[in-house]
This record gives sequence, C-alpha cells and structure tokens, in this order.
Amino acid sequence: MLLSRQAPAFVLALGLSVSVTAKNLTDEINAQWRKPAKFWDTDLDATINAKGTYNFIFNSSTLPKGIKYGSYDYCNMPHVRKPEYRIPSKEYKLEYVEIIHRHHKRTPYASNLWPEEKPPYDCSNTELFTYGEGKGVPSVPLYWTPLWTSENPFTTVGEGSNCQFPQLTQGGFQDSWQHGNDLFGVYHDLLHFLPNQPNGKQMKFRVTNNVITSQVASALIAGMYPALARKDIPLSVFIENSAIDSLEPTYSCNAANTLSSAYGVGSTDPAWTPHLNASQDLREALNKISGVDPTDSGWSQSWDHYFDNLSSRQCHGIPLPCNGTCVTQDQVNEVYRLGMYEYAYLYRVAPESLLYGVEEYGVWIAEFLGNVRAATSGTSTVKYTHNVAHDGSMSRLLAALQTEVMFWPGMGCELSFEIYSKQGFGYEKKEWYARILFGGQVFKSSTPEIGVADMIPLDKLTGYLNGLVGNKAANVVTLCNSS
Ligand SMILES: *[C@@H]1O[C@H](CO)[C@@H](O)[C@H](O)[C@H]1NC(C)=O
Ligand SMILES: *[C@@H]1O[C@H](CO)[C@@H](O)[C@H](O)[C@H]1NC(C)=O
Ligand SMILES: *[C@@H]1O[C@H](CO)[C@@H](O)[C@H](O)[C@H]1NC(C)=O
Ligand SMILES: *[C@@H]1O[C@H](CO)[C@@H](O)[C@H](O)[C@H]1NC(C)=O
Ligand SMILES: *[C@@H]1O[C@H](CO)[C@@H](O)[C@H](O)[C@H]1NC(C)=O
Repeated sequence: MLLSRQAPAFVLALGLSVSVTAKNLTDEINAQWRKPAKFWDTDLDATINAKGTYNFIFNSSTLPKGIKYGSYDYCNMPHVRKPEYRIPSKEYKLEYVEIIHRHHKRTPYASNLWPEEKPPYDCSNTELFTYGEGKGVPSVPLYWTPLWTSENPFTTVGEGSNCQFPQLTQGGFQDSWQHGNDLFGVYHDLLHFLPNQPNGKQMKFRVTNNVITSQVASALIAGMYPALARKDIPLSVFIENSAIDSLEPTYSCNAANTLSSAYGVGSTDPAWTPHLNASQDLREALNKISGVDPTDSGWSQSWDHYFDNLSSRQCHGIPLPCNGTCVTQDQVNEVYRLGMYEYAYLYRVAPESLLYGVEEYGVWIAEFLGNVRAATSGTSTVKYTHNVAHDGSMSRLLAALQTEVMFWPGMGCELSFEIYSKQGFGYEKKEWYARILFGGQVFKSSTPEIGVADMIPLDKLTGYLNGLVGNKAANVVTLCNSS
C-alpha cells in the first residue's frame, strides 16, 4: 500500500543523497507534515481497480440532476454563492476577503494536443483582445484572428484551427461571468461588503502572465459590475513580472525542482512509479489511437497530458476521439481517476509535498500575509483582493495548507479567505478570526494549527503560515538557495 512507505529520500546539493524524515522537514519550515484523510484517490487499488469516477463529474459545467452543488465538477468547480453561503453570526464583522481560484474552462495547451488530429474546437464565438493605448492617443480595441496560409510550408499542432491553445472558450467566459456574479451576490448583495461601484482603493484584482487569467478576469469582473462591460471604461489589474510572478508561480527555486524530480513526475521514487506501471496497458491503448510517440516522456511520465486533452474535450461536450477504434468512456474514466491520484500523491500524500508547497508558493503566501496585516492594522484601505490563477497555483497552496482531501483542482476551483473582527470584552479590543471556504464550504486541514477553518483565531492561521514562509518569505529564499 502506498501510504506505508519508508521515509522519503531526496537528493540534496553536492550530489549527496540524504534520507530525510518528515520530522526533518519540520526543523526547516517550523511545521510538520500530516497525513491527509483517506480518500479513494489516496489508494492505488481504488484508483486502478474501479469503474466510473466516484460521482466526480468531468463532462459539463452543469451538474447532472440529483447531484448537489458543492460536488466535484472538473469543468466548473463549486465556489462561494448565495444558496449555500452561511452568514456568520452578528458579532463577527467581515473586514477583509482574499480570493484565489483557477481560471475557467479552455482549450487544451498546445503541448497536450495529439500530433495529428485536427482540434475539434470552434472559437469563432470568442474574441481575444490584445491592444494598447498611449496616453492622449486614441486607439481601437483589437482582437487576434489566427491566420493559416497554404503558402507557409511549415506545420504545427492545431493547424487550421481558429483557436489559440490555450484560450478560454465561450463556455469558459460564461462560467467566469457567473463566478463573478455569484461572488458579488454574496459579498455585495448579502453582506453589503463590496462597494456598489468598482473602487480601486478597496478592491484589487490580480492575474498571472498567462493571458487566460486575464480572459477570465474580464468576464468575471463584468459579472460583478455589469456597467463596466462597456468597452470605453478601462480597468487595470495587477500583474507581477513574469520572471518572479508568485501567483502562477514562475519565480525560480532550484531546491523545489530538485525535490520534485526526486519524489514526483519523472522520478523513480517507489511511491510514485507503481501507478504508472499499473496503467501501462491503458497508455499503450491510447498511444495507438492518438499517434503519441510511446517514448515521448511528456506523455508517459504522468497522466497530465491525456487528462488535459480528454477532460477539455468532454467539458465542451465533444465526442471521444477515434482512429480505427474509438477511445471508450471506461478508458477515459481511468485517466480521470489516475489524474486525481497523481494530484493527491504529489501535493499531499508524499511527505515532501509540504516542503515543496512552501518553496513554490511561499512568496504568494507571504504576500497574502502582508495583505492581511495591512487590512487588519488599518494601514491599507484594500478590503478585497481577487487572484485568478492556475491548477499549479491551487495545488501548491493546498499542499502548504495541508488540505485534508486533495484532488485535481478543476476549472474555477476556489479558496476564499475571510477575515473577521469581533468586539472583545473589557478593553474593547478587537479580536480577529479567520474562516476559509474551499469550493464555498468550510476548509478542513490535517494540521491542527488550522483544523476546521471556521472562525479560528487569526493568529493561529497567520502564525502557521508565517512559520512556514518567514517574514517577507525569508525562509523561502533560504530553502530555495539550499540546493
Ligand atoms: C535530516 O536528518 C538526518 C538524520 O537525522 C541528518 O543526517 C540530516 O542532516 C538532516 N537533514 C537536514 C536537511 O536537516
Ligand atoms: C456525464 O457523466 C455522468 C456520470 O459520470 C453521466 O451520468 C452523464 O450521463 C454524462 N452526461 C453526458 C452529457 O454525457
Ligand atoms: C486532444 O488531441 C487531439 C489531437 O490532437 C486534438 O485534436 C484535441 O484538440 C486535443 N484536445 C482535446 C481537448 O481534445
Ligand atoms: C515497473 O515496470 C518495470 C518494467 O516492467 C519494472 O522494471 C519496474 O520494476 C516496475 N516498477 C515498479 C515500481 O513496479
Ligand atoms: C492514427 O493512428 C496511427 C497509428 O497509431 C497514427 O500513426 C496516426 O497518427 C493516427 N492518426 C490520427 C489522425 O490520430
């Protein structure tokens, strides 16, 4: 069984191979890795020797009849919205909210296209604007139309398509709009927390260097403030330099790469490889249909590419591909289960995942702590920060937070950090509390320092996170330089 493994070994600098126990990680990051809860995706047997997808949905942004909102839907994960939202009791006053979520559904990345097949996406119902304006110089909003000519003799994947790979699809724009509209329904309509008019002094939006997050933000903000949807009212969103972006994240951390290649994708860690072996037949069958080269490491070191290719397809209601024989739903379901299993292992089951999450996401965590400090000390007027990110962002953050249950963070997968004050007794001092919502429901962590994150003392949460990353992410710098 996967969980009963020996202490993991990873390779440190100088080519030394040092055996490191979970306790060892403790000293460096001031925290202990805790086992996640048992779930089907932490169990290789339940992943491989199963049928179906344990009621996880992968084929529509809308849940089938009879499945409750809040259930896993890869195409459109649950988020904070009115019908499920629990308003805290009156003594708690909402003071600061920070949201982070994955972008919405899109075409696959070019690297996840199969070599031959013509991509089955139609993007004629989307316009992707790319334009600029010099102060005082009028300009026209422009969008790109892909051009393929018969004179250009060179070919590439996605030939002839009117899509970018990746780009948000029309359905992805719809889901983004709805996401913003639902959040506004809670934080404005229900709680009267957000201002009636968009206000840069109180609200901050942030995107990554990948344009799909800006595509999401543009529809999402229109879902919050429909009046802004007129193209003559520009809005600015924040973006960090692509070399050091903490949200995506893109800053470089050698130690994290070394760590991940020792326990994760591409490694020979005996905790990682068995699922690849056990799914060898499936990979061979799919390679035959797709024309993917069996020696292509991108497609054989993990299930990521097949997962992205097939889930993007089914999220848009596109039939499964055929080439002689057709890919079957049973095969695809196995790919989905394996994808969940890989995320559970990489970001929670492997004890290294905590250190990895801290190294890779510690800078964003430090920025979040800075935002909370500024909001609670009254040095900033910003009370709402909204980050549009990626599955790689969510999974690293969830690893650091030690989520009780881990799975692949699907499209729109969301964490909402709500910071409350309460009037204390005696000296009328304010007391501070935090509630974390994951998919609109109370987040549960395996570390007792967070536990069930429902109005926990704010100090507990910030103390835990600050212990991980250090003041201004000082620990992250030390850790990243340690290899
Ligand atoms: C981890 O613990 C082992 C055994 O106690 C020790 O040899 C090693 O130096 C420690 N590594 C780190 C990075 O602290
Ligand atoms: C989507 O999948 C669910 C179960 O995984 C199935 O019940 C449903 O019929 C599927 N819907 C479509 C449109 O294929
Ligand atoms: C999967 O690969 C095929 C073959 O290249 C491609 O046409 C398709 O667009 C890819 N993605 C999806 C989601 O189907
Ligand atoms: C995986 O399969 C290969 C080749 O069949 C074998 O050499 C290797 O030991 C297997 N690894 C595990 C962990 O089962
Ligand atoms: C169909 O399968 C063959 C054999 O694996 C492969 O060479 C070819 O690229 C595939 N064609 C398409 C359109 O996927």
